Amino acid sequence: MEQQQTAGTDSELSAPEFAAQGQRLGAVVYFSSASRNTARFIANCHLDDEGIDVFRIPLRPKDPPLNIRQPYILIVPTYGGGSAKKAVMPQIKRFLNDPANRAGIRGVIASGNTNFGEAFCMAGDIISRKCNVPFLYYFELMGTKEDQEKVRRGVVDFFRNHPES
Ligand SMILES: Cc1cc2nc3c(=O)[nH]c(=O)nc-3n(C[C@H](O)[C@H](O)[C@H](O)COP(=O)(O)O)c2cc1C
Repeated sequence: MEQQQTAGTDSELSAPEFAAQGQRLGAVVYFSSASRNTARFIANCHLDDEGIDVFRIPLRPKDPPLNIRQPYILIVPTYGGGSAKKAVMPQIKRFLNDPANRAGIRGVIASGNTNFGEAFCMAGDIISRKCNVPFLYYFELMGTKEDQEKVRRGVVDFFRNHPES
């Protein structure tokens, strides 16, 4: 299914970090801090090969903001060391606080570290609840080969099964 970005002007829209090869099926937005675990996971998933545009939420405040006007699945790490208030990084909150960005979220995938016990992947629970979207999957640190394959297949199946997305 061909999808067009409809709102805003082209100059306002952000370019994907990895652009979908061939026909565009959907999009993923992710955040990763300086430790880059999530960035490595995303690169290993090769989502662009499956027709998925991949956008990155900027790390530094002075970077231009990410503006997305197409449906997407959000993939984010958990921070805060167990504090629910700090579990979602400020960069992710800033991105989601823009109503035009928030309108496109269709699901969330979260990562974390099992050392944090009850707070493992808590960012996924928080975003799922606040944005009223399904918490689709979770993985630890940079994920395993199996996680990569499940996310790759899961994202593709999600957009195939939700063509209106
Ligand atoms: C200061 C700090 C706090 C963290 N807090 C949590 C937490 O509360 N729950 C959790 O599951 N993981 C937590 N983590 C683990 C990160 O989610 C994990 O290292 C993740 O892979 C980081 O992704 P990134 O390198 O892409 O930023 C924390 C990591 C750090 C460094």
